[in-house]
Amino acid sequence: GTTLGSAANRTGRYFGTAVSASKLSDSVYTGILTREFSMITPENEMKIDATEPNQNQFSYTGGDRIAAQAASQGARLRGHTLAWHGQQPGWMQSMEGTTLRQAILNHITQVVTHYRGKIYAWDVVNEAFADGGSGARRDSNLQRTGNDWIEAAFRAARAADPDAKLCYNDYNTDDWTQAKTQAVYRMVQDFRSRGVPIDCVGFQSHFNANSPVPPNYRTTLQNFADLGVDVQITELDIEGSGTTQASNFRTVTEACLAVARCAGITVWGIRDTDSWRSSGTPLLFDGNGQKKAAYTAVLDALNNG
Ligand code: G3I
Repeated sequence: GTTLGSAANRTGRYFGTAVSASKLSDSVYTGILTREFSMITPENEMKIDATEPNQNQFSYTGGDRIAAQAASQGARLRGHTLAWHGQQPGWMQSMEGTTLRQAILNHITQVVTHYRGKIYAWDVVNEAFADGGSGARRDSNLQRTGNDWIEAAFRAARAADPDAKLCYNDYNTDDWTQAKTQAVYRMVQDFRSRGVPIDCVGFQSHFNANSPVPPNYRTTLQNFADLGVDVQITELDIEGSGTTQASNFRTVTEACLAVARCAGITVWGIRDTDSWRSSGTPLLFDGNGQKKAAYTAVLDALNNG
């Protein structure tokens, strides 16, 4: 294949990117998007603050624009994200207890129903585990509604769209030896054994000097896949430049290709200047939209897979 999407498709995988609705009028951006990518994740437009800015008043303008873009270019869509401690609207931030439990389940039901039939996979719950060595859940207003809030979220999503894949998504879960990775693994294992509907695990994969691609990355992906779920690389970016960065991108791509149930890779933005990171060059295209060495490394890996 001569593009990321077509090369990934050789092995039945997708290659995606995060998209901002506000950039769809940028012809350089949209040109690369339509040429290269076969999956789209809205970077912010389907988050709780965007879709339910006031309680029970739903707003789908940005999300619908991105869904229309995906449909027009024949790309699949990853929904991101239904339940998260981040980017909660003000009304939800101050909520607790059964009121919050009811509100988040209503949110999930409404948003999943709105996008029913259009979503390949939903990040149902995002970043619910603590960093560091505790292996505990992250404290949040959602967690304080009861430890079963995650499975309640997955059940509500399944009821609203039985055909979308339902994912748990997190960062710093790439190193198999880390407590956070092990804790997420045990949750997925528990959900699978009790029939809680979960179909996939997303590995955000934001890598930098402090958090490099771990040597056991492929092992982590395979171990999760062996629980009977798909694994997806959902927000890939890697700090650095030149051949070192290209080599890291190649390693990640090859890890996915080595795992049968690794369904695809999504990078978290198109050009370096589109990245959420305030500085650095973590993506596959430079600020002018030119392909970087990292792009070529990924494309070659996909074509050799
Ligand atoms: O839209 C408002 C705008 O109206 C306002 O004037 C401006 C002033 O700050 O802020 C704009 O909102 C920003 C939004 O991005 C849209 O650009 C927020 O401040 C900013 O915090 C938000 O950042 C996003 C971040 O999530 C927030 O949590 C990034 O774009 C987005 O890339 C990032 O994505 C997350 C994933 O969802 C989850 N995993 C980690 C990843 C990277 O942090």
